[in-house]
Amino acid sequence: MISATARKKIENVITRYPEEEKRSALLPALHIVQNDNQGHLTEEMMKEVADLLEITPLQVYEVATFYTMYNLKPIGKYHIQVCRTLPCALMGAEKLVAYLEEKLGIGLGETTSDRLFTLTEVECLASCGTAPMMQINQNYYENLNKSKVDQILEELKQKATS
Ligand code: FES
Repeated sequence: MISATARKKIENVITRYPEEEKRSALLPALHIVQNDNQGHLTEEMMKEVADLLEITPLQVYEVATFYTMYNLKPIGKYHIQVCRTLPCALMGAEKLVAYLEEKLGIGLGETTSDRLFTLTEVECLASCGTAPMMQINQNYYENLNKSKVDQILEELKQKATS
């Protein structure tokens, strides 16, 4: 169920659009709900968003499944999103993913058993000049190589336990 706080925020976003264009608030509404629910959306929440925006649950679901920034199942504390679009691919994104899979012991779309890391691939994150790169939660990590990845994961693990 959407929390009262999230509902209030969505209602506030809706006021930015003309009454007949409530649906335009869909992307920010989904962000609000997801951030409020430890990083993922549930079917029930998507239905509630549909009610608030006066659209069908299917319209919400179509959008939530189209964009990789929405998660339809629980994710780990750190969501690692590796860019796989051409510039990053040319600079070794595939090898980077393979290294992360090996290091974390999970495949794409999976979460480590300690619930710390979820690994996914995404399309261009608009940082092509510093390929290969990845986003973890709200932060960008660029010009990556194996030792940088080791260092980043170690820092995040330490942060999580401190
Ligand atoms: S191709 Fe990776 S950030 Fe654009």
